[in-house]
Amino acid sequence: MSSRYTDKKLVDSLVQKHRHRHLVGGLWDEIAGLQLKTVVRHGLTPGHSLLDAGCGSLRAGHLLISHLNPRNYFGFDYNDSLIEAGYRAELDADQKDRCPRSQLKVADVTQTLPFERRFDFVLAFSLFTHLDRESVSNGIKVLADALSTDGKLLATFFIAPDRTVDKITHKEGVVTFSDQDPYHLSLDEIREIGLRAGLSSVKDTEFTHPRGQSLVVFKPNS
Ligand SMILES: C[S@@+](CC[C@H](N)C(=O)[O-])C[C@H]1O[C@@H](n2cnc3c(N)ncnc32)[C@H](O)[C@@H]1O
Repeated sequence: MSSRYTDKKLVDSLVQKHRHRHLVGGLWDEIAGLQLKTVVRHGLTPGHSLLDAGCGSLRAGHLLISHLNPRNYFGFDYNDSLIEAGYRAELDADQKDRCPRSQLKVADVTQTLPFERRFDFVLAFSLFTHLDRESVSNGIKVLADALSTDGKLLATFFIAPDRTVDKITHKEGVVTFSDQDPYHLSLDEIREIGLRAGLSSVKDTEFTHPRGQSLVVFKPNS
């Protein structure tokens, strides 16, 4: 796995300079609101449990924690410093009560997760856009195992028209690659990766993202 987030020392030093919002991609309020609106449109109610995969500094987390019933939000991220900055700087006392720090863990999406339960919703926003094909494939398998039998995984990707394209300049101005961060994948590849993990998938045609990411919704095959 190689992405801009694997250099923990660099991430830690930027977090110390209060750059945690910028590090997870900026557009803080806009993308937080987009994530909440999207997951609610896909059926999230306060009684559901949700796992935020690559939760970063709780950009979506701070809204989801208030939306969900207490203790229904869980998250994990590769970088503890991002989680810690989000918990310290972005949550008020009520939100900390609703989501104890122990529900936010350090973990790599390509490895076994430290949660001994399954979730109604798993959110993976701007996570797989930073991971290579093999890591995406491993990560989708890991997240499939975290889903309840009628659960949904909502994940964003940069989409390539087909698997042979090396470099794309998206109309929003972002440049993506087949072999370096930020990564793109074709819908065919995403569908195949999902099927190998026991998930069917569909692209959400209503979803629009300010940087041109697309949303794919995965469900366990019955
Ligand atoms: C662009 S940020 C998005 C964060 C969050 N999902 C959001 O929308 O605000 C990507 C996040 O993925 C995390 N990340 C990168 N690789 C990871 C991995 N292999 N496992 C878990 N988290 C990872 C990074 O540390 C970072 O917090």
